[in-house]
Amino acid sequence: LSGTVYLVGAGPGAADLLTLRAVRLLAAADAVFYDALVPDAILSLIAKGEKVPVGKRCGRHSAAQHFINKRLLDAARRQDVVVRLKGGDPMLFGRAQEEIEFLVRHGVQVEVVPGVTAALAASAELGVSLTRRGLSRSVAFVTPRTGEGERANDWLRAVLGCDTAVIYMGAGEAAEIARALLDAGEAASTPVAIVESASLPGTRRVAGTLAELPALAGRLSSGPAVILLGEVYADLAARERAPASERSASQAA
Ligand SMILES: C[S@@+](CC[C@H](N)C(=O)[O-])C[C@H]1O[C@@H](n2cnc3c(N)ncnc32)[C@H](O)[C@@H]1O
Repeated sequence: LSGTVYLVGAGPGAADLLTLRAVRLLAAADAVFYDALVPDAILSLIAKGEKVPVGKRCGRHSAAQHFINKRLLDAARRQDVVVRLKGGDPMLFGRAQEEIEFLVRHGVQVEVVPGVTAALAASAELGVSLTRRGLSRSVAFVTPRTGEGERANDWLRAVLGCDTAVIYMGAGEAAEIARALLDAGEAASTPVAIVESASLPGTRRVAGTLAELPALAGRLSSGPAVILLGEVYADLAARERAPASERSASQAA
């Protein structure tokens, strides 16, 4: 007999973007295992549960995945409500499958609570829809980050094959990403945007063209960021390039 492990999406950072279900589970949890990107405002919603940092930041593994799996299993054997709190949505670039399969194999019940993923929070910050009638009917969520045995260039095919792409875990390698996309045939004039720390107080937004991507990334601080790419960002990119006087006039209009 064991407790249930809830894989809960913490969203992009703002506590009021959590789902009500997430808030209820944080209040009821006996233990909460959380990633490095989860801010204090969200951790403060844990009423009585033990708070256990498992220190994964942006795909880097300061605590090996199998060690996390093992700790979740131990906790589920001792406690009723175990929460595994993950940034954004657990089912996107969150290694949820490894945890689900391991726990289910050991007879533990697992439930997943979705969260707002970074691509959606970034779109909200920009005020630009990922899809648009006549311009974008497909969206790809991709990452150039590869695990063992994965082919490095699969993400390029996805970006070239969709109307709007959102690249996770890539802002630190913007120059390599721009080079790889240009080499693969993407136009240098393709509009891009980068949103850093979406939903958080220090959020930054920059826009321009693919050719300008490395310079745009250089204007960011050190928060998590997504790169967005596609024609839907053309107006944003053009506005960024307009002289300041025109920009304030168009904002006032
Ligand atoms: C390991 S992935 C986890 C993604 C997460 N599961 C989600 O659904 O958003 C971490 C990456 O998500 C993106 N990210 C997370 N929070 C973000 C935020 N508040 N603003 C912009 N990008 C963010 C960044 O690309 C970061 O490198």
